[in-house]
Amino acid sequence: MSKLTLAKLELANRLVLARVDYNVPLAAGAVSDDTRIAATLSTLRYLLQHEARVVLCAHLGRPKGKPDLRYSLRPVAERLERLLDRNVGFCPETVGPRAAEMAARLETGGVLMVENLRFQPGEEANDPEFARQLAELGEVYVDDAFGAAHRAHASNVGVVRYFPQAAAGLLMQRELEYLGRIRDAHEHPFLVLLGGAKASDKLPLMAHLARRADTLLIGGGMAYTFLQAQGKPVGRSLVQPDLVAAAGQLLAQARPGQILLPEDHVLADGTVVAEIPADGQAMDIGPRTRTKFADAIARARILFWNGPMGVFEQPPLDAGTLAVARAVAACAGTTVAGGGDSIAALRAAGLEDKLSHISTGGGASLEYLAGERLPGVEALSEA
Ligand code: 3PG
Repeated sequence: MSKLTLAKLELANRLVLARVDYNVPLAAGAVSDDTRIAATLSTLRYLLQHEARVVLCAHLGRPKGKPDLRYSLRPVAERLERLLDRNVGFCPETVGPRAAEMAARLETGGVLMVENLRFQPGEEANDPEFARQLAELGEVYVDDAFGAAHRAHASNVGVVRYFPQAAAGLLMQRELEYLGRIRDAHEHPFLVLLGGAKASDKLPLMAHLARRADTLLIGGGMAYTFLQAQGKPVGRSLVQPDLVAAAGQLLAQARPGQILLPEDHVLADGTVVAEIPADGQAMDIGPRTRTKFADAIARARILFWNGPMGVFEQPPLDAGTLAVARAVAACAGTTVAGGGDSIAALRAAGLEDKLSHISTGGGASLEYLAGERLPGVEALSEA
């Protein structure tokens, strides 16, 4: 890890401004999935054990630069308070005199969360004046928001010029270490397992990883675009017509046996077929594909999984996804997963602790693995 980490910081009694990614789903005014909040606890505990005073800033949703209470971080602060098992103050303003005063009054070991960064137009515009106001909330800056690192906003890029140093939090550090190992792929056999509905989200990453991966397994909705490119019948299954040519190119460039596609399918009515009929819609990988994928997964020394194999939210069409989740969890190599549905499948099967790392980054992970530079990572100080 070439970036500055927490271990190098002087923290005792200092006011730490920490950018976190608490962009979590809400239902009926409460947090419905706290994975991203829980993932920052090691950083927060570290800061508190080292007697820092912590001000947290984060975004939630896309309120477009205006206050919109549907996107208030208050329920997030409440959930954090429970997870951290200590009082978390909340400031209904993001910056300004009130936020600065609440921050200044924090005692050692105190935690304050300020309101949604995106209630201010300056955040997404990366406005220097907003960044300066934000910087007034801390003496030390820590960025743990890997999930937002593909954005160049005031809170993760503009703000760093107002601090002598910008350090990676422990979650940021873990993400860069594990995803860096996947991206650079020096360990073999290296296996990539991709699914999900849209091939468009993952084609750049596939093109990058296909050059390095020993095996690329493709399931889920995106597999039918690839099957179409091979001239196989796909019936009424989901296909992205504008991507068939790109999928065909990827297949043509692959080594023999490098890319594995589904060999059998579960149709919408539950029937298992080897060939999709003209009026059929494939919704999950079939049992033979599950076994073949599981065998390949078992041999991997390092693997990355992103995306469900079928319509995961509609059991029994979750069976293919659950089968690969079990195979990934049983793999003795280094296992890294990302993406909301893959993580939900691991959780549903009670297997989330069995992986080496679960990434909190959605778009950020995909861009990083596609070999792109992330502005939020570039902005961090070198070690
Ligand atoms: C995410 O959820 O991927 C990040 O928090 C970034 O959110 P955004 O796509 O609204 O910028």
